[in-house]
Amino acid sequence: MSRLDYVIVLAAGEGTRMKSTMPKVLHSIAGRSLLGHVLAAVDDLSPIEVRVVIGAGRESVQEHLAEISPQAIPIFQEHRGGTGHAVQLALAGVEGAGTVLVVYGDTPLLSSESLSQLIAAHNEGGFAATVLTAEHPEPTGYGRIIREDNDDLLRIIEERDASIIEREIVEINSGVYVFDLAKLRGAIGRLSEGNAQGELYITDVVEILRTDGDRVVPILTPDFIEILGVNDRVQLAECAALMRDQINDSLMRAGVTMIDPTTTWIDITAQIASDVIIYPGTAISGATKIATGALIGPRTTLIDCEVGSRARVLESYCIGATIGEGASVGPFTYLRAGSVLRTNSRVGSFVEMKNSTLGEGSKVPHLSYVGNAAIGVGTNIGAGTIFANYDGVNKHDTEVGDHVRIGSDTVLVAPVSIGDGAYTAAGSVITEDVPPGAIGVGRAKQRNVLEWVLRKRPGTKSADAARASTKEGKPTS
Ligand code: UD1
Ligand code: CA
Repeated sequence: MSRLDYVIVLAAGEGTRMKSTMPKVLHSIAGRSLLGHVLAAVDDLSPIEVRVVIGAGRESVQEHLAEISPQAIPIFQEHRGGTGHAVQLALAGVEGAGTVLVVYGDTPLLSSESLSQLIAAHNEGGFAATVLTAEHPEPTGYGRIIREDNDDLLRIIEERDASIIEREIVEINSGVYVFDLAKLRGAIGRLSEGNAQGELYITDVVEILRTDGDRVVPILTPDFIEILGVNDRVQLAECAALMRDQINDSLMRAGVTMIDPTTTWIDITAQIASDVIIYPGTAISGATKIATGALIGPRTTLIDCEVGSRARVLESYCIGATIGEGASVGPFTYLRAGSVLRTNSRVGSFVEMKNSTLGEGSKVPHLSYVGNAAIGVGTNIGAGTIFANYDGVNKHDTEVGDHVRIGSDTVLVAPVSIGDGAYTAAGSVITEDVPPGAIGVGRAKQRNVLEWVLRKRPGTKSADAARASTKEGKPTS
């Protein structure tokens, strides 16, 4: 009974109250635009056709729409004529009979379950229109629902047009409507601008249908959270927090441990398996996928990353990285696009890595930059090693074989290759390939200038210490 033919999404408004250069419906929560959330809920209902009315920021909204919902049809509303005007435009060329759902692009928490219940109630009752309503503890700004004695909908009055008594009403209009297509088409041309905003209101269709003797029925949802609209940044943050709680609740119920769900921000697009433990202050975004048993956080950001089972990522920022099973990252690691850490490898503190592969069991434990490198298995990269991959114009590759020991503070000047089982001496600047099993030494030989301090820095604490040490019979070299 929840058959649905058309969906009209209104998304042309400027969103003046957002005070933004970006159109309101492109602002996002939980990693998806407001419009994207609405379209995702609508998509689940498998309508025949979705029309999205766009206006403010037309180009960017149209581009976004093509990306997230290419089958949706954009309808252009050149100037803000009101929600009724927007629906008039969207109905152009829509023939025949059927059921139409109208929703606003700024209500991101709407669920497809509620929409489908509303459509079912509408179709079963055979009403001309059915309106989703909710009781809101702070109804200011919303249209109020005025019921008839038999509980049918008499009319919807906007805040600005409402009397003081009408403003006391806590039942509000969600902006979600299901219409009989033919009835809507018959009424939409009869709207007038006689209201405080001088616009055509879709809400006025209610009175027109009623005067025609048709039934319009309000359906009260028990949960007002779903119908919250975003008009300003405060409401954007409120909706984001509510969605965060929804996402976290469902993940925790599916077996994910969160030490502090209020500071754990997970995008709706991320996938997290059971028995993952997430510490406070962590953000998991985009297409990130985390396998079972991984330990993430505290204070870690993962954007579009893949994390294998039992891996640990502590106090780190990772974007576009693949972290293998049992691998360990952090604390304080920056993994950039194309970082691939194979099974049981380890990248430690103050290491930045980009476009590089670290082989199974290999380690970059401290203070390194690793760029454009392919590192084999069982290799250790000493503290302070720099892969000098950029000659100022182009990037070059470095290859490091299996079971290599790169000495601390080595600079590997790419392109260069270190053979299997090779070493480099600490402090070397390596510009030539090192063959398998060799040690590459690329530094000046040390010489000691004896008693230099006694001669050149007499009277200093260093000189005194040196003299005392010599008297005690300690060697001077
Ligand atoms: C609207 C409803 C109000 C309801 C509230 C729920 C009307 C007249 N009022 O008020 O009863 O309680 O939503 O959130 O409908 N839009 C267009 N073209 C226009 C005007 C608006 O596409 O010419 C779009 C906007 O982009 C927005 C939606 O319609 O997505 C609603 O417009 P908005 O100005 O936010 O209406 P509200 O004042 O919130
Ligand atoms: Ca709104």
